Amino acid sequence: MNQKKQHLLLRGISMSLFSLLWILASPTWAHEPHACQPDFPDAPILNGHLEQDDIGQGRVSFSRLFERGRQLFSAQFNTCDGQGRPATTGAGDKRIPDEPARIRTSSPDSDSCAGCHNQPRPGGSGDFVANVFVLAQALDPVTFSVSPEFSNERNTLGMNGAGAIEMLAREMTADLQAQAQALPDGTHTLLTKGIAFEITKSGGAVVSSKGVDTDLIIKPFHQAGVVRSIREFTVNAMNHHHGMQAEERFDLNPAKGMESDYDEDGVPRELTIGDMTAATIFQAGLGIPGRIMPVQHQDKKLVKNGEELFGGIGCVSCHSPKLILNSRNFVEPNPLNPPGTFNDSQAPFVFDMTLQGEGPYLEKDRQGTAIVRAYTDLKRHNLCDAEIRFFCNEQLAQGRPAQDGRPGEEFFITRKLWDVGNSAPYGHRGDLTTITEAILAHGGEGRATRDAFVALDHNDQRAVVAFLKTLQVLPAGSPAIVVAPALQGHAHD
Ligand code: HEC
Ligand code: HEC
Repeated sequence: MNQKKQHLLLRGISMSLFSLLWILASPTWAHEPHACQPDFPDAPILNGHLEQDDIGQGRVSFSRLFERGRQLFSAQFNTCDGQGRPATTGAGDKRIPDEPARIRTSSPDSDSCAGCHNQPRPGGSGDFVANVFVLAQALDPVTFSVSPEFSNERNTLGMNGAGAIEMLAREMTADLQAQAQALPDGTHTLLTKGIAFEITKSGGAVVSSKGVDTDLIIKPFHQAGVVRSIREFTVNAMNHHHGMQAEERFDLNPAKGMESDYDEDGVPRELTIGDMTAATIFQAGLGIPGRIMPVQHQDKKLVKNGEELFGGIGCVSCHSPKLILNSRNFVEPNPLNPPGTFNDSQAPFVFDMTLQGEGPYLEKDRQGTAIVRAYTDLKRHNLCDAEIRFFCNEQLAQGRPAQDGRPGEEFFITRKLWDVGNSAPYGHRGDLTTITEAILAHGGEGRATRDAFVALDHNDQRAVVAFLKTLQVLPAGSPAIVVAPALQGHAHD
């Protein structure tokens, strides 16, 4: 036996003796539970993982992916699943693992996506109590303060129709980039799907732009308009809110050193690439918002008048009532996903949003196209002016560039209104309880239409709000986009 082997043997014996003594000396060892074992009641809530290879090879059906995604979205993750992130901030950076296990301000702030997104069912919007302190998650050490100098407080948005929104953004991006490429230096107005974007080119590059970043990538998610895809958002949210790490961002990411168990909670492979595809397909396949129409003739007339006034006073200049998608398909993943979010589009998962999903489905248009009635232009606007300051309450730019001499934090993407009838509260912070208050808070670029609303007579103002109230997330599986309420639910009978 050479010296090295002898040394190892001795070390082995002394380690075993040490362990034995430690076990004998420890008063609690006999009661230490073997939690997280498959036969223990505190087992992981996730009963396995999906593999992207199986999805790419067509071995996983739409309904299986959707159901798996629903489970991931509604699961209350526990420490056996890998909930918590002792060594990772909510932005995914390493930190010294000595922080509180969870905290409402800096997060982990919850155990389930559906804990916040639950109106009228998982995948939808959320109450004021479900607000998020956006950007506080990046702080190390954490903050216990809700002061706006540390975070932008935001209300929970609903994802019904998010698949169509992401595809609109992709089509508009391709269109804007192609147009810009072909133009000479100078200032130009680009038109995509009827929405105008002003850009300035110099030295062959886009050097300034309005309503969109100079890369001309429409980022439809976050009220600041800074995230490209449902998937990118979901990977962020899993780590931020729950401390659940997606392999594509952590374990398999060269920028993170390909380290298994990056957050040092003892659980590797918390969420596979296939799991994240499922979580994305669930959100993309949720029922498309529609309308609950009144049954009484008088009310129908009021709503119709309101819809016309909404156009007539210019609300539609931002809240575009109808955008056409050239393709009806949702294609996952998005090839524009940034590093750390899966973007290999060689074997994508594709479904037809006009035929598949939770229902109601996206509305068909002619020749393979589809209609998206989301009431947005997917463009950032500034609703601040000298007198009306309600929406100018943020202090952190969150990637929004300054524009026209105004700071980035004053800009918000035009809020989708297709679920406005049942997604109270209102405004980016959810601090408005009625639609009327939200309209009155429009200053800046929205000031002229807001003043036009104020100038309407009482009945016409009623009409605009009555119209907006009809825009709702419908019961799952509703057969049509427009449905009449059950008679007994009608307040005026
Ligand atoms: C603590 C509450 C909370 C939890 C938990 C939560 N969210 Fe959210 N979610 C929000 C808020 C608030 C917003 C709006 C953020 C903003 O505008 O800056 C949002 C926005 C989103 C959006 C973008 C919607 C849009 O139209 O811009 C997606 C996608 C999303 N969440 C997915 C998820 C997923 C997936 C999970 C679980 C992994 C999750 N969220 C967990 C509160 C939450
Ligand atoms: C210049 C573009 C623009 C115009 C014009 C405009 N809006 Fe908006 N609207 C926005 C933006 C941006 C938001 C998001 C504001 C925020 O929360 O920061 C918004 C939010 C809203 C909301 C709140 C929705 C919610 O769920 O929180 C309502 C309601 C609304 N708009 C209705 C209207 C009506 C009615 C008109 C016409 C009188 C109008 N808007 C004109 C850009 C516009």
